Amino acid sequence: MREIPTIEEPVPVLELSSEEIEELTQEIRSLAAERNAVILAHNYQVPEIQNLADFVGDSLELSRRAAATDAELIAFCGVHFMAETASILAPEKTVLIPDLEAGCSLAESITAAELRNWKLRYPDAVVVMYVNTSAEVKAETDYCCTSANAEQIVEHIRVEHGADVQILFGPDMWLGSYVERVTGKPMILWPGECHVHAGIRPDDINRMRVERPGSEFLIHPECRCATQCMEYVAAGEIHDGGVHMLGTGGMLRYVSEHPDGDFIVATETGMLHPLRKAAPHAHLTAVNPKAVCKYMKMITLPKLRDALRDSKFEVKVPAEVADRARLPIERMVAIG
Ligand code: 13P
Ligand code: SF4
Repeated sequence: MREIPTIEEPVPVLELSSEEIEELTQEIRSLAAERNAVILAHNYQVPEIQNLADFVGDSLELSRRAAATDAELIAFCGVHFMAETASILAPEKTVLIPDLEAGCSLAESITAAELRNWKLRYPDAVVVMYVNTSAEVKAETDYCCTSANAEQIVEHIRVEHGADVQILFGPDMWLGSYVERVTGKPMILWPGECHVHAGIRPDDINRMRVERPGSEFLIHPECRCATQCMEYVAAGEIHDGGVHMLGTGGMLRYVSEHPDGDFIVATETGMLHPLRKAAPHAHLTAVNPKAVCKYMKMITLPKLRDALRDSKFEVKVPAEVADRARLPIERMVAIG
């Protein structure tokens, strides 16, 4: 039985003084220049990492940057499956992750053996897996997707394979049920979840509706509360246009276009940093301040400095797995 983390456990976050941040930032930037390295950071990283990165983005944007970079080395400030995706898309580059323990509870929720067994039960089904999966799982997958394009991928499969096609969707059941709802296409869902987003519950939304009436909700579709929110909208209890189901990149674009807005943000709390940078006058509140991903917070400035200085820790997907895992990722990148 796997041990599932919860958001009730306090997450240790390294506190650095502004002098330490300044000094480490300079050291890291000069090491990156010396090593011809590009620093990629996910939107949930701690502010000081985001502030020095060459590019900050959502998981889809980071995959695209990794594939397109001219740098010899990619220092990946995110979690392990993201660094693996970079290694799959840029096999000739060296990909480093500053802490090998930076995993993902959602990616842990399905193994390649479990997926193979699932496929045996539905031999004609098309398999769609969220990018939050290991390279071995991707190697068993027909199409990858992210929160930014899951709907488009499912629509594409419907057009390519016919309306009656069976789709196995995993591992995130909350994203899966959201996609079923918006596309109207029933799928067979794997019962996995991200402990951070599953920890954001309908009660958090209900509390905010009382405390902050009139605010707009920005909700990551991995959240357990996503279905409930859509029901509130359908019932007219939340005004039309008051709920936006968006991946992290979509949240940034929406807030940039509405810089004076008032938003409740339902995702990992690291997201507040890029949102505040993009729209300093917007009113932004985390729906649940405990929604902190302990894996994302394992990446720190000292570990990034050590990674660049000592060439550690390399993430290299073996060629036989990478070659099979590349196809579903490339299909995803081509579709949207
Ligand atoms: P995005 O794809 O929206 O960046 O979110 C991915 C995620 O949850 C990473 O943990
Ligand atoms: Fe994985 Fe959830 Fe952390 Fe994202 S927030 S890396 S899905 S555990």
